Amino acid sequence: MNNFEKHISDYFASLRSCQISEAERYAMDGGKRFRPRIIFAILKGMNIPEEKGYDAALALELIQTFSLIHDDLPCMDNDDMRRGKPSLHKAFREDIALLAGDEMLNDAYRVISESKTYDDSVKVKLMASLSRYVGLDGMIYGQLLDVTNDSSTVDVEKLFEIQDNKTGGLFKISCLFPMHIAKLDREDYFTKLGSMIGQIFQNQDDLFDIIKTEAEMGKNLSDAKNDKGSALSIYTVEELKKIIDDEFDELDKYLEAADFDTSYLKELLLKLKER
Ligand code: IPE
Ligand code: IPE
Ligand code: MG
Ligand code: MG
Ligand code: MG
Repeated sequence: MNNFEKHISDYFASLRSCQISEAERYAMDGGKRFRPRIIFAILKGMNIPEEKGYDAALALELIQTFSLIHDDLPCMDNDDMRRGKPSLHKAFREDIALLAGDEMLNDAYRVISESKTYDDSVKVKLMASLSRYVGLDGMIYGQLLDVTNDSSTVDVEKLFEIQDNKTGGLFKISCLFPMHIAKLDREDYFTKLGSMIGQIFQNQDDLFDIIKTEAEMGKNLSDAKNDKGSALSIYTVEELKKIIDDEFDELDKYLEAADFDTSYLKELLLKLKER
């Protein structure tokens, strides 16, 4: 287990022992931790040890996991597999899954507010970015657009709006968190960076829905069955692959204007490109 996984594990050991904390731990296991790795890569590029990002990354990964628990519920995407095992509502119960998701959202703010790593001014900024881009300027608004559109109502602009909110929201947070921890004030730059990475990430995810297998992805690939408004409602596989390649090129150019050492982030983005 690496140090961040140990940090997660220690956190769960500190929670009241009950079915909700058991369910949280079950759901949290097996994630790729891509958003935490962005936080650590940017911090390293700012000469700040990644441990300084652990509480912020834990908070964000709790929210990522809560979003997936609720995304899989029968009233949303109705998916029975997640992170290579039965979805939380299948492994536990639907009511427990709902409550565990609620609790993880709550836990995220508790982790930051009780953190011994950040001073109060940093905590306020972390929580402000978190609440903004998880809520109606981010993930939850994006999920609203996701469930109220289908393949026939999605055009290029709508697709961008869905992706930039439902997925871009948490990626914006992963770029803003290291900026706040470093006490820098370049909100526009880091927000756009998160938006660009989120766009690539969700375009890949939509693409993988038809070019990968459920075993490879560790989750159900249900977009077509659910008639989802995804990138593949608009583009062919070949067109989408080209769009993703172009987006990686644009991202490379954008990183030239960064004022931190981007080599760690670029290393991570290369892994994303090759996944
Ligand atoms: C899944 O995110 C949700 C999307 C935005 C596509 P990840 O692919 O990062 O899932 P985990 O956290 O590794 O399970
Ligand atoms: C999920 O998008 C984005 C979230 C905010 C959870 P998807 O519904 O495409 O994610 P997967 O494919 O189930 O992981
Ligand atoms: Mg969904
Ligand atoms: Mg889904
Ligand atoms: Mg998907």
